[in-house]
Amino acid sequence: MMRPVRTVLIVANWKMNTSPTDAGELAGTIAKATDERLVRRVICPPYVSLAAVGQALAGTGVEVGAQNVHAEVSGAYTGEIAASMLVGLASWCIVGHSERRRDQAESDELVGRKLIRCREAGLTPILCVGERLEEREAGRAEETVRRQLEGSLSVTAAAGGIDPELVIAYEPVWAIGTGRTARGADAAAMADAIRDSCRELGMPDAGSMPILYGGSVTSASIGEFLAEPGIDGALVGGASLKVDEMAGIVARAALTARARVEAPSA
Ligand code: PGA
Repeated sequence: MMRPVRTVLIVANWKMNTSPTDAGELAGTIAKATDERLVRRVICPPYVSLAAVGQALAGTGVEVGAQNVHAEVSGAYTGEIAASMLVGLASWCIVGHSERRRDQAESDELVGRKLIRCREAGLTPILCVGERLEEREAGRAEETVRRQLEGSLSVTAAAGGIDPELVIAYEPVWAIGTGRTARGADAAAMADAIRDSCRELGMPDAGSMPILYGGSVTSASIGEFLAEPGIDGALVGGASLKVDEMAGIVARAALTARARVEAPSA
């Protein structure tokens, strides 16, 4: 059977960096430096910079994403942002990032409710999963990720089904912002486990679901991940604030995207 041709996707997570003024300028410069139409590119700036980044990216083909969304539809949640408020500002949304799981104690169940809010608002979700160092060292990396997926996706499955647009980012916590990366083969094994788990949870077409690797990706390390047929791109943090790094990452991603289009069953 022919493997589905999955798009190659590079997502920039700017985290709590940039002001609305410099975010627009940086986004425009990155768009020009990464003009590879076969690679789907998304920039996720802080909320307050979504409008400026959206304006700067108009007509470039680069899409805009939010870094988080609230689990409720609306209400007395001071300082929070609902999915419906993002409509027109973003078309993607990161959910369940490990920094939020760590700092805001986000549970798998809460992340599942955020996925429902994304679906209602038409935002394509990027669900982040990944094990901590002690879990990997104890041989429990796969078990951890399967538990995270089950805890979140069972919530969405019970509320009308898993979003067919779902994208998953495998981000080992010990690799985020540390300069350490997983090995390509380990990330690929995890991508297989993620697709298996999603099939078991009620996504028969999990084979066509994009899976990204995240954790200290740079222009030097991206090749190791994109050499794996099961990995479809990257969620990039620190390096995504550097124009040259983004140019290198997207240029490497374009090689994979072209190869996939030319030899879809390879
Ligand atoms: P990093 O962040 O590339 O700086 O490690 C990745 C992420 O948190 O998505």
